[in-house]
Amino acid sequence: MATVLALETSCDESAAAIVRGSTVLASAVASQVEEHARWGGVVPEIASRRHVEALPQLIEQVCGQSGLPVAAVDAVAATVAPGLVGALLVASVTGRTLARLHDKPFLGIHHLEGHLASVQLGEPLPEGPYLVLLVSGGHTELVRVDAPGHFSRIGRSHDDAAGEAFDKVARLLGLGYPGGPAIQAAAAGGDPSRFALPKGRISLPGGGFHPYDFSFSGLKTAMLREVRALEQRQQESGEPLPVADLAASFEQVVAEVLVERSCRCARDQGLRTLVLVGGVAANRRLRTLLEARCGREKLQWRVAPLAYCTDNAAMIGVAACRRLEAGVRSAFDLGVAARLPLDQAGRLYETQALF
Ligand code: KG4
Ligand code: ZN
Repeated sequence: MATVLALETSCDESAAAIVRGSTVLASAVASQVEEHARWGGVVPEIASRRHVEALPQLIEQVCGQSGLPVAAVDAVAATVAPGLVGALLVASVTGRTLARLHDKPFLGIHHLEGHLASVQLGEPLPEGPYLVLLVSGGHTELVRVDAPGHFSRIGRSHDDAAGEAFDKVARLLGLGYPGGPAIQAAAAGGDPSRFALPKGRISLPGGGFHPYDFSFSGLKTAMLREVRALEQRQQESGEPLPVADLAASFEQVVAEVLVERSCRCARDQGLRTLVLVGGVAANRRLRTLLEARCGREKLQWRVAPLAYCTDNAAMIGVAACRRLEAGVRSAFDLGVAARLPLDQAGRLYETQALF
């Protein structure tokens, strides 16, 4: 079984891991969240600088923990797309340099393929095909997986990603960054049915609505209106803003929309298994709702282990092991890209570098 050193620096977490097959031998993450929280979101220039500072130590740490020097692994992998270009470059250049120095293959990995692979860090994947709901800070997608590396996107958000909506609404409620965990904590004990909020739909040109696509911008505006109206009344009554009820109502409607459309998509596509991955997959209400609904609809479900929902390098390592087992490697002059659709991930292994 292949052993891989994997690196991830696509956004605001610097991470390194050593993975053998689907087993994590060592994994380390250095979060920059506290620094970006001062600005209410990720500042790309700061992210790149912090990755440069953190990554060498993280690599030393995982090599030490696993007892495996770089010379002992079979390949080096790094996330190369999508993400912040300056940030991606740090893992890409470090990974390619280490691979070159130690005469190992280099594998550029698609960040979302990493998220998809994260579920294998828990239980083995069921027999394909299956449907994945991928919900992170940058993406909200329904992806059909027919075989390893064969993805097709069936649903997506037309505006904000689910995680982005959590982050923006948390800012509106004065709850800090990142918004997901902050809203989850604030919503505990709140009434999820107090505020009626819209389940954003995408109209089809011929009439009706897209059954599997999402929109979160209307929900964000509805939250803003509720808060402004409550603030006005508050000036007269002196009552505090019902933050717990607002957070719970928002969390509930997002979870319902995600679960309803995913289950419908799985059913329509004749898929018996639904897989939940990405940073927002850490959300307790979403996990509970998905479990209940899949139980009722007799769908199998798998959720990424809590520790591997948000960005980490272990998931990049698992994806890299699968690619290595399939006999591919990337060109050493492969660069990085801010965008790359997931169904193009196989092109990262063409002899002529894609970018
Ligand atoms: O996958 P991830 O770490 O980074 C991206 O690839 O984007 O996802 C980060 C996103 C953030 O928007 C964060 O607010 C959200 O995941 N998130 C959560 C929770 N934990 C993180 N959203 C809802 N509930 C959570 N518990
Ligand atoms: Zn991510």
